[in-house]
Amino acid sequence: MNKKILCFSAAAVLLMASCKEEKTTDETASSGEVAATYEAKGMSDEYDAKIDEIVSKMTLEEKVGMLHGYSMFTNQGVEHLGIPEVHMADGPLGVREEIERMSWKPAGRTDDFATFYPAGGGLSATWNPEMAATFGKSIGEESRARGKDILLAPAFNIVRTPVGGRTFEYLTEDPFLNKSLIVPYVVSLQEQDVAACIKHFAANNQETNRGTVDVQMDERTLREIYLPAFEAAITKAKAYSVMGAYNKFRGDFLCENSYMLQDVLRDEWGFKGIVISDWAAVHSTKKALEAGTDLEMGTNKPTFDDFYFAKPLLEAVKAGTVTEAEIDKHVKRTLKLLFAVKAMGDTAGRAKGSISTDAHFKDAYNIASESVVLLKNSENLLPLKTDGLKSIAVIGANATKTHAQGGFGAGVKTKHEITPLDALKAKLPSSVAINYAAGYKTEFKPRSEGKFGDVVQEVNVPINTLDPKMIAEAVAAAKKSDVAVLFVGANRDYETEASDRMDLSLPFGQQGLIDAVKAANPKTIVVFIAGAPYDLNKTEKENSTIVWSWYNGSEGGNALADVLLGKVNPSGKLPWTMPVKLEDSPAHATKSFPGGATEEYKEGILVGYRWFDTKNVTPLYPFGYGLSYTTFEFANAKADKKEYATDDTITVTVDVKNTGKTDGKEVVQLYASKTGGSKVTRANKELKGFTKALVKAGSTESVTIKVPVKELAYYDVATKKWTVESGTYTFKLGSSSRDIKGEVSVNIK
Ligand code: BGC
Repeated sequence: MNKKILCFSAAAVLLMASCKEEKTTDETASSGEVAATYEAKGMSDEYDAKIDEIVSKMTLEEKVGMLHGYSMFTNQGVEHLGIPEVHMADGPLGVREEIERMSWKPAGRTDDFATFYPAGGGLSATWNPEMAATFGKSIGEESRARGKDILLAPAFNIVRTPVGGRTFEYLTEDPFLNKSLIVPYVVSLQEQDVAACIKHFAANNQETNRGTVDVQMDERTLREIYLPAFEAAITKAKAYSVMGAYNKFRGDFLCENSYMLQDVLRDEWGFKGIVISDWAAVHSTKKALEAGTDLEMGTNKPTFDDFYFAKPLLEAVKAGTVTEAEIDKHVKRTLKLLFAVKAMGDTAGRAKGSISTDAHFKDAYNIASESVVLLKNSENLLPLKTDGLKSIAVIGANATKTHAQGGFGAGVKTKHEITPLDALKAKLPSSVAINYAAGYKTEFKPRSEGKFGDVVQEVNVPINTLDPKMIAEAVAAAKKSDVAVLFVGANRDYETEASDRMDLSLPFGQQGLIDAVKAANPKTIVVFIAGAPYDLNKTEKENSTIVWSWYNGSEGGNALADVLLGKVNPSGKLPWTMPVKLEDSPAHATKSFPGGATEEYKEGILVGYRWFDTKNVTPLYPFGYGLSYTTFEFANAKADKKEYATDDTITVTVDVKNTGKTDGKEVVQLYASKTGGSKVTRANKELKGFTKALVKAGSTESVTIKVPVKELAYYDVATKKWTVESGTYTFKLGSSSRDIKGEVSVNIK
């Protein structure tokens, strides 16, 4: 029995601190227990009296200066009272480069390089909360080294449609996986004395019309699908700040939405931090401030004084339409955040951080190496056997493409990004000849030519014609090589903030290239590097070997090469469903996406695999899917008791046997189904726990998954309460949502 497994999944939460010391990346991580380990204390009230005193000395102008942007990424400080500017930076992929104070132009500095971390899809494909903690700590240290108080991350809106422009940046279609990763991320980030700004709150699930669309969904769907990770980030991880989204929800812009910002966020969840608007998401003064927005950023006005929370706010106070007490409330919250991150108060004790260090590149490598998903290996071409290998064709623009920058939105300026070709050159024996061909060009038509039912304003339309000369070079390289590896997929110009994709087709004519290379060399390995689902039907049908990687950070190429060469056994699992066709996905099957002025989430709670499983629609690759170079069998699935009360925690164990010849990690996934009917519509199955376990070749590990009975609750709209229905639940244990290998039934009193 692996002691480390016991440490994570069976020990009491109180013992967790000592377990944490021993962690290495080889260990086992379980969703529920690891998340419990990371429950944070939150902002202290220790400085409240001091804050009152400071505010009593401030002029109205000084107070108002703190509530709006005074450069692209700061507000205004009050020097004589020792209040610094709040320094913010994007974002999800690493600490963004510095830009000019008053424009989006790069500042041209030489000290703003950072580590590029795997984008959200890569992190979530690890299915490893420990990796999320590593991510949070590492990027937190970088934020501090760059002098930041708030990191505008993590971004984790639910992946509702596969074509969403920010799917690469967000984590998953599943609320449980989402919160299991977000809690350790936020806690570990904030332990570095930098605030998380969790975003985008909320229901910001599409880029099409994101600045105006009015999202409508029923309350149960909101609570069960779109809010759980936000709720956990506030109630468990105690995130210090929240970003108000661009869109409207039930008629009100999110930054003017008192239901979301006051009733839910503060009254129900006890949020004590600040709400920062997304950049230019504020549309009013009194309404936005009184609804709960604390800091207005990015508004597109001639000067910062023209922001809604600048001169117009001063005038509103003078005219008596906004009270000074209201202003004080927001100023005090901001000061509380500054004390919480030690930008005020115990400044000497503040974490100093470090940036672009070998340790951080190793963190990025560890995350990336657990994220690569093996989709197909039916001829065992992988791992590549280098013994006797004389030549390899490396084909495709993604063999040499870097992904730290691109498209609209935040990127990272990094000195260090290893491409797949760099890594293969360094790792293959020198006796192996590498025959490289780019294969296709990544070019776009001008934006104005993009059309999507006249609603998408900014579409990147790829040029899909292949260059015959490039194809001929690729075919020649494939023909003269023992094996061909194609690096295809997408890039960050094609998958980008501010526009959704028009369809799932592979851009730049790549399908033609895949077909031609496969015809030239039957030993072709197709590697996709992308952040969102694509149409892989033809590739799946005609190719034996398919690998999926992500915009995977500074060390993405090294991690991928190590998987291809067998140094790392792949253990990534898809964090969303790959549909056969777009119309199979719930937001499209119900014809609700992309909506118009209003977007009604007609599929309700049946998002992602919940829809596919409940409606019996077969996906191309299911949620949670991913193969390994070894095989696993599950046996003896059991629960510790037959019957449970609502406050109990159910302990499920299952023996996982590694039946192959390679050590490997398996993600044991637990899906719950209510048997024997329910008062409400239920999804066929819902993820309620998972554990990623390292199992040595030939050995068996007992894997534990803990399910607090409360996790089985549904949101009762009538009583406004989470309610656990009594009766029988079946727990399905699988290596994906569709590969169920064991079942356990439990009774809830
Ligand atoms: C994005 C945010 C980002 C902000 C500042 C907005 O366009 O939606 O995620 O933090 O810009 O760069």
